[in-house]
Amino acid sequence: MRIAMIGTGYVGLVSGVCFSEFGFDVTCVDVDADKIARLKAGEVPIYEPGLDDLIDRNLKAGRLAFTTAFDEAVAAADVVFVAVGTPSRRGDGEADLTYVFEAARQIARAMRPETVVVVKSTVVVGTCRKVAEIIRAERPGVAFSVASNPEFLREGSAIEDFMRPDRVVVGAEDARAEDVLRRLYRPLYLRETPILVSTLENAELTKYAANAFLALKITFINEIADLCEKVGADVQKVASGIGLDKRIGGKFLHAGPGYGGSCFPKDTSALAATGQRHGAPLRLVETTIDVNDRRKRDMAQRILASLGPEPAGKTVGMLGIAFKPNTDDVRDAPSLAIVPALQAAGVQVIAHDPEARAQAEPLLPGLEWRDDPYEVADAADAVAVLTEWNVYRGLSLSEIARRMRGRAVVDMRNIWQASDAAEAGLSYRGIGKGAVGGGI
Ligand code: UGA
Repeated sequence: MRIAMIGTGYVGLVSGVCFSEFGFDVTCVDVDADKIARLKAGEVPIYEPGLDDLIDRNLKAGRLAFTTAFDEAVAAADVVFVAVGTPSRRGDGEADLTYVFEAARQIARAMRPETVVVVKSTVVVGTCRKVAEIIRAERPGVAFSVASNPEFLREGSAIEDFMRPDRVVVGAEDARAEDVLRRLYRPLYLRETPILVSTLENAELTKYAANAFLALKITFINEIADLCEKVGADVQKVASGIGLDKRIGGKFLHAGPGYGGSCFPKDTSALAATGQRHGAPLRLVETTIDVNDRRKRDMAQRILASLGPEPAGKTVGMLGIAFKPNTDDVRDAPSLAIVPALQAAGVQVIAHDPEARAQAEPLLPGLEWRDDPYEVADAADAVAVLTEWNVYRGLSLSEIARRMRGRAVVDMRNIWQASDAAEAGLSYRGIGKGAVGGGI
């Protein structure tokens, strides 16, 4: 089976490469000639652990190709995946489907009869049926199928997530589409991964409901963290306590500075807009968005408060700028809200991130960078942890204290222990860590 993967963003690139690892013949297509040239040379445009090895191996095995020749790749394929971006439309929060519809038109013109077109991009409910209409209008009388196959991989653990998902969700309404998708995911099926085949709408909405639920879960624990701080409780203990209830589950209960990234902010907005459009407002999702936005601003205030009554002219060392560890992605990262808020208050911010500098530099003017994490502590009045990169966990707090001018540490990911910080003479504030009770 020959696959054409349209779009070499996170989802398209990882999915395409993983399908080639399953043994299929995959051609990844993108309009960005520079990116394609780099990929052909085995150069990976994103930081994703393990991806470079997989690309190298499958390029050498001749199962993986990169091209800008859209029509050629589509004409040679049995199955064409659409994995182009669906960014937030400015103003109304709706997903911008322009790239998806444009891809559908181009595919229609170039495809051979009986092609299965699979939408992998995250698209609002109803989109796949529109894609089918577009193709039918372009090629009346030609047989084709449209399927939905949303992707659930996370950045930073994308390959593992693709290769070992909890489930595969498919929207397919004819036998050929279902058969093609079942065959593509057969390597996972053999490992007993459930494959849920349903309607297009069910598959499309499953993706949004999953992301919104996870965003809500994070936001819930973030609010519980705020309460913990007021009442002398510890959010990590509370999260473990509720997470062991299998109905709740322990994952995605890490309190932090608010969720970011290329998916949760965009997808919650699009889902809320869809709800409004259909007269079924999703008030929990709307509130989640609101609480999460406010949280990022509150985190900036928390850092400013650690600097004392006059923060202007002080220096903050920031550990981590990416929205999560193991990625260089900074899209909608809490840092993009927090750093400018600190700068607006007259604070100088000095940052370290193992991978995100190139992506972040144009977005965060005035931010100074250091290559070594300890260097952000040099003469800093406060040190803040914003991303839980593993390299930060093992830093010596006494070395950080030795380099600092002030004492304040604001750990927004709870990677350090208050007792270790106290031993190093630092004044530590974690997330959801209330002062320990007064004894009974
Ligand atoms: C998310 C979903 O987890 C994937 O299943 C989905 O496929 C993807 O969006 C997508 O739609 O493409 P991703 O954005 O890569 O994946 O990263 P996550 O690990 O979900 O983290 C998102 C944000 O939530 C990060 O800012 C992270 O720091 C935050 N988070 C996550 C928390 O604050 N606490 C947690 O317990 C978990």
